[in-house]
Amino acid sequence: MAEETAAVIILFGGSGDLAQRKLYPAMFGLYKRGILAQHFAVIGTARRPWTDAHYRDIVVSAVAGDNDHDQAVAFAAHFYYQSHDVTDAAHYITLKELAAKLDAKYETAGNRLYYMAMAPTFFATIASHLKSEALLTDGGFNRLVIEKPFGHDYASAKALNDSITATFAESQIFRIDHYLGKEMAQAIMGLRFGNPIIKALWNKDFIQDIQITLAEAVGVEERAGYYETAGALRDMVQNHVMQLVAYLTMAEPTALSAAAVHEVKAEAFANLHRYTTAEAAANFVRGQYTSAQIAGATVPGYRQEDGVAAASMTDTFVAGRITTDAPALAGVPIYVRTGKRLTRKSTQVTVTFKPGTPGLFGTQPAAHLTIYIEPTQGITLQLNGKKLGQTNDLTPENLDFRHDKKAAQAAPEAYERLIEDALVGDQTNFNHWTELAATWRYIDVILAAWAKDDAMPTYPAGTMGPKQAFELLQQDGHDWFWQPTRIQMAD
Ligand SMILES: NC(=O)c1ccc[n+]([C@@H]2O[C@H](COP(=O)([O-])OP(=O)(O)OC[C@H]3O[C@@H](n4cnc5c(N)ncnc54)[C@H](OP(=O)(O)O)[C@@H]3O)[C@@H](O)[C@H]2O)c1
Repeated sequence: MAEETAAVIILFGGSGDLAQRKLYPAMFGLYKRGILAQHFAVIGTARRPWTDAHYRDIVVSAVAGDNDHDQAVAFAAHFYYQSHDVTDAAHYITLKELAAKLDAKYETAGNRLYYMAMAPTFFATIASHLKSEALLTDGGFNRLVIEKPFGHDYASAKALNDSITATFAESQIFRIDHYLGKEMAQAIMGLRFGNPIIKALWNKDFIQDIQITLAEAVGVEERAGYYETAGALRDMVQNHVMQLVAYLTMAEPTALSAAAVHEVKAEAFANLHRYTTAEAAANFVRGQYTSAQIAGATVPGYRQEDGVAAASMTDTFVAGRITTDAPALAGVPIYVRTGKRLTRKSTQVTVTFKPGTPGLFGTQPAAHLTIYIEPTQGITLQLNGKKLGQTNDLTPENLDFRHDKKAAQAAPEAYERLIEDALVGDQTNFNHWTELAATWRYIDVILAAWAKDDAMPTYPAGTMGPKQAFELLQQDGHDWFWQPTRIQMAD
């Protein structure tokens, strides 16, 4: 069993969707592993007038499976509910008293985790009240966990950061990007730096291009209100895609510590080749899905979805060409794409190695290394092998590794890993402010380029994006490696 951590966890947004779908199950996972055991309490807070008993029922129904109902009830006994509006100063006085009482009852040594699982408009208000009403303890740790979206552009991200750093030091802030909690995102460092053969090849002499795809099959679902203010570039590229770019292009850290990893990631972001707005327009493509038949049913186009403006200019798809000025990979194109209503849900990275000059076996096809992040978790290395039989012809052959599905499901889920990291104070898998500042500055240029352009390319729902996303690679004589269907080239 892992070592127990002691803390009072104060959860803003305790009745919300994220809390019920992700955070309570993640905390229950920690409880089952003994990381949360006797010395912890959770205070859930939101406006609706729930009692502790009702709140505990909600927690039990959010976490209990077929065989662990009693354990879920014992876990939920550590949960307390406080009904209040976070904009009301009186809220924090009662919260402080309740936290102090639970601190004494559960002997949590003044350790506090403040988790903001609410709309970002409240983040600054909560942080400033935590300070003005003196909630932070003198003994023990005080840590803030903050959800995305962290800002809307560089200026708003900076304003938000200024407001939370007025209360918390950088070393106390844990900015969530749940992609950093995913098994295969965490595995990239091991693959790159734990294998001399991969390390030797990870440079511009051997790598032709790197491709990152984060494809979603679903549409905007019930999130149109938020999505209309965000779009794929802000919702997926600024955070998840950019984090993968950093892991794929950064130098080897000197240690597996938060400071060393953040240092090389900051360097990787600083090395990204900055575009002018004209260059951003040439290197990034956006798109919107249109209505199509999928599995016999008609799905609406983005502009027909509930809550979406009839002339919406929100991007549901982005593809881009990113380059780095880091000497090892300078000039290697990093193609990224993400979108809703694509053919199939998959997050994957493919590194294509340069084909050799024609030799003994003629022109050899390029070799590809694919990292499957989700839903499949694994690695495929495609090499050229000799065809079976009386021939010397070569053919692409796959060396496939996949994590066993059951074992992968049993491994802690992203939120469980991240909450554990926050409880033990490990910031490695959280966003440092320098990373957010750099990525927002990069994104702002693309947003500025798009603001000058009123064309919105479209793609039929169920395809892999607009034709411009394919043309982007064709300009370099390249092609997307992962193409679940070929019909996507139709207009
Ligand atoms: N849901 C997800 O899967 C997900 C994934 C990634 C990131 N996030 C981020 O996580 C955060 C929360 O998302 P969510 O989906 O859980 O939102 P949500 O379901 O709308 O929950 C919002 C919570 O805030 C409470 N609340 C609203 N106004 C309040 C006020 N003035 N005072 C006190 N409590 C108030 C609500 O309860 P009352 O109405 O009772 O006050 C509710 O508990 C957002 O930043 C979101 O972007 C969510």
